[in-house]
Amino acid sequence: MSQQSGIGQDQWKTRLGFMLAAMGSAVGLGNIWRFPYVAGESGGATFLLVYLAFVFLIGVPLLLTEFSIGKAGKMDAVGSFKKLAPNTKWHLTGIMGVIGGILILSFYSVVAGWSIFYLYQYVTGAFWTEPDGGFGAAFDAWITNPLAPLFWQALFLIVTMVIVMRGIGSGIERANNILMPGLAILMIFMAGYGMTLDGAGEGLAFLFTPDWSKLADPNVYLMALGQAFFSLSIGICGMLTYSSYLKEKDKLPAATVGVGLMDTLFAVIAGVMVFTAVFSFGVEPTSGPPLVFIILPSIFESMPAGGLIGVVFFVLLVMAALSSALSLLELPVAYIHRTLGLTRKAATAIAGSIIFVFGIAASLGFGIWSHIQVNGNNILDMMDNLTANIILPLGGLLMAFFVGWYLTRDKAIQFSEIESPLLQNIWLIIIRFVAPVVLLIIMVTSLLGI
Ligand code: PHE
Ligand code: NA
Repeated sequence: MSQQSGIGQDQWKTRLGFMLAAMGSAVGLGNIWRFPYVAGESGGATFLLVYLAFVFLIGVPLLLTEFSIGKAGKMDAVGSFKKLAPNTKWHLTGIMGVIGGILILSFYSVVAGWSIFYLYQYVTGAFWTEPDGGFGAAFDAWITNPLAPLFWQALFLIVTMVIVMRGIGSGIERANNILMPGLAILMIFMAGYGMTLDGAGEGLAFLFTPDWSKLADPNVYLMALGQAFFSLSIGICGMLTYSSYLKEKDKLPAATVGVGLMDTLFAVIAGVMVFTAVFSFGVEPTSGPPLVFIILPSIFESMPAGGLIGVVFFVLLVMAALSSALSLLELPVAYIHRTLGLTRKAATAIAGSIIFVFGIAASLGFGIWSHIQVNGNNILDMMDNLTANIILPLGGLLMAFFVGWYLTRDKAIQFSEIESPLLQNIWLIIIRFVAPVVLLIIMVTSLLGI
C-alpha cells in the first residue's frame, strides 16, 4: 500500500478531531476508576499535588516527544522508528508498544465489560435497590462467574473493532467527536450533583488540602508517576500512532498541552465526583479498585433518584473506556495492516481476536483461574503491573533517549514544532536529563518491589 511513503495514508479530517481523539485516548478508566482509588490510597491532596507536578513537568514534555516521532515518521509504531532510524534497533520500542497495547486492552476490556454490565443492570433497574447480600457480594459473584463477563467483554471489543474498522476520519475521529463532548457534559453534571450532597465539603477537603508530612512517603511518588503515564497514554506508541495521521499544517505543542490539561481536568472532576459521594456517605476513601463497582452503587442506592445517577455514571464510564480502547486497538491494527499487507478490516479482526484471547485469561483470573497468582496478583493485576510499571516507563525512557540523544538537536527541535527558544531548551533539558533520571529511579524501585 502507499502507506510506506505516508502518501494516501488515512488522516484526521481536522486538528480538533485529532485533539478530541487524543483526549479520548487519555481520558478513560484511568481517570474515573483508577485515579480516585489510587489517590484515596496514597494521601488524597498530597498525591494530587505530586501527580500534577509529574503530569506537567514530565508527562506533557514526553507526550510531545511521542507525538513528534509519529508526526515525523508518518507511520505506525514500528514503521516510524524504522523510517527515522533505519538499520538500527530503535524500532523495538515500537514492537514493545504494540505488545503493550495488546496487553493493556486485554485487561482494560475486562473492566470495560463489567462497566457495560453495570450499565445494563441500571438500565433494567436491577441495581436500583441493593441485591441480596449487598453490592460487594454481587460484585464478587459477577467477577467470579466464568462466562457472563466474557460476553460483555466481547461486546465491548466488538464495538471497538467496528469503529476502528471504519478507519481514522470516518471511524475513530467521528466516534470521538460524539463521545468526548458527551463525556464532558455528563462529568460536569455528576461533579455538580456531588457538590450538592451533604458532607461534600469533607470530600473536597480530602482532595484539595495537602498533608505535607505525606511528601516524605516514597510510595506517593511511585504511584503518582505510574498514574501520570497510564493516564496520559504515554510510552506504548498509541499516541505516536495517532499523531502519524496528522496533516503537516497541524502543529503539535498546543495540542499536547490541551491533552494534558483535559486529562487532568477529567481526573480532578472524577475525584470530586467520587470523593464528595464517598465522604457524604461516610465510606473509607481507601477502599481500592472496587471503589467504583461496590461503593458507588451502594451510594447511588441511598440517593434520591440514585438509579438514574447510576445510569449516567455507567454511561460515562463506558464512553470513557471506549474512546481509550480505540487508541489501544489502532496501535496494533496500524502495525498489522502495514506489515502483513492486509486490509484494515482484516487487521482489526486479527488484533481484536488476539486481544480477546488474552482478555479471556484476564477475566478468568477472577474465577476459575484465580489460583494462578504471583505475589498475590491475579492475571489482570500482572498484566496491569507489567504494562504500567515496566512497559510504559521503559517506552517513555526509550523515546526520551531517541529524540533527546539519538536525533540531532536540530531535528529534535524541528520535530517538536516548539517555536520559543526558551521552551525549546526547557523541553530538551527535560527529555535529556530530568525525565530519564526520574524514570530510572521509579523503574528500579518498582522492579525491586520497594
Ligand atoms: N489513558 C487511558 C486511561 O486513562 C489508558 C491508556 C493507556 C490508553 C495507554 C491508551 C494507552 O484510561
Ligand atoms: Na487518563
